[in-house]
Amino acid sequence: MKTLSISGSTGNSKILVGETFERIHDYLPANRVIIITDDNLARLYGSRFPVEEVITIGQGERVKTLETVSAIYDQLIACEADRSVFLVGIGGGIVCDITGFVASTYLRGVRFGYVATTLLAQVDASVGGKTGVNFKGYKNMVGVFNQPEFVVCDPQMLKTLPKRELSCGFAEVVKHAAIADADYFDFLERESSRAFSLEAGVMERVVYESVAIKASVVNQDEREKGERRKLNFGHTFGHAVEKTEGLPHGEAVSIGMMLAARLSESRKMLDRQSVERLARLLTAFQLPLKSRVDRHQIMDAMARDKKREGDVLHFVLLEKMGRAVVEEIPISELQIMMDSPD
Ligand SMILES: NC(=O)c1ccc[n+]([C@@H]2O[C@H](COP(=O)([O-])OP(=O)(O)OC[C@H]3O[C@@H](n4cnc5c(N)ncnc54)[C@H](O)[C@@H]3O)[C@@H](O)[C@H]2O)c1
Ligand SMILES: [Zn+2]
Repeated sequence: MKTLSISGSTGNSKILVGETFERIHDYLPANRVIIITDDNLARLYGSRFPVEEVITIGQGERVKTLETVSAIYDQLIACEADRSVFLVGIGGGIVCDITGFVASTYLRGVRFGYVATTLLAQVDASVGGKTGVNFKGYKNMVGVFNQPEFVVCDPQMLKTLPKRELSCGFAEVVKHAAIADADYFDFLERESSRAFSLEAGVMERVVYESVAIKASVVNQDEREKGERRKLNFGHTFGHAVEKTEGLPHGEAVSIGMMLAARLSESRKMLDRQSVERLARLLTAFQLPLKSRVDRHQIMDAMARDKKREGDVLHFVLLEKMGRAVVEEIPISELQIMMDSPD
């Protein structure tokens, strides 16, 4: 087991990589503890939960709303949870984001921690202190920054995760390596099949390295002014593909990373070989490389992207494998690249 610390403006967070779910007792305070989870995890892991008080929500982006938050407040009030309560979110990114938001707002804030059960939650959603919900169809519109006291990342729990969800988590893992650590990228290339079959030692290193990269970026720039933008590698194109094609986030990000890598190549920043390495690694994790929808539709969706400032987009490109830069790209240049045959 390895521990990583994040120091946020709202407090410090300990990420416990390779810790087992069974040992969660060691991290809970003597206070009253209430678990927040989704119905799927309650079914799979409920018998192993450390306490009996459990609030269960549904699954999917559609439940990530203020209505769900309100239903949780109702249950907390009904069972007379006071300011000394400690909330534990057990689940993927949705459960973590909602638990963090509820804990930050109920009675002006109570203590909380997470057990992150998807790869995406372990390497991304539970790290960095962003909490919140969707609002009127807009993703993560309402929320606050706040750090959980601990995050337990047990790689064994990923064994029950559907393969497609696992692939999506690996998209963020590949992203971390590509933007920040060439050695880690080499490691993923060598160990991709052992990682994808969730071999314990390999996965512990994967989660650790990824959390370390995200934690170091977040420690430098908690509120996304500069450095944190690098974590958006593949996401400008990715969000557009996600919207137009309705693909899961990780698959769309995979396609987005390929487009960003090709744009880096066309700007003479990245060599062809690195673009091919990225394609091979994403394929090893069963992630798609190309979108099936019309390129113009993607361009339209991207032009509406919130990070657009005037006629330029802030775009994360690769200088080389393991090093990202944020560049302002004119929309017209993107248009030319999207129009050219590959
Ligand atoms: N706060 C952040 O910084 C941040 C970063 C990235 C993503 N997110 C958010 O994370 C959310 C996506 O998270 P996600 O991909 O983890 O999805 P999710 O929470 O919806 O989980 C996906 C599915 O997997 C199931 N599941 C979870 N763990 C399981 C396990 N161990 N075994 C079997 N099934 C399991 C869940 O029940 C659910 O059906 C999005 O809402 C996104 O906005 C937040
Ligand atoms: Zn992402």
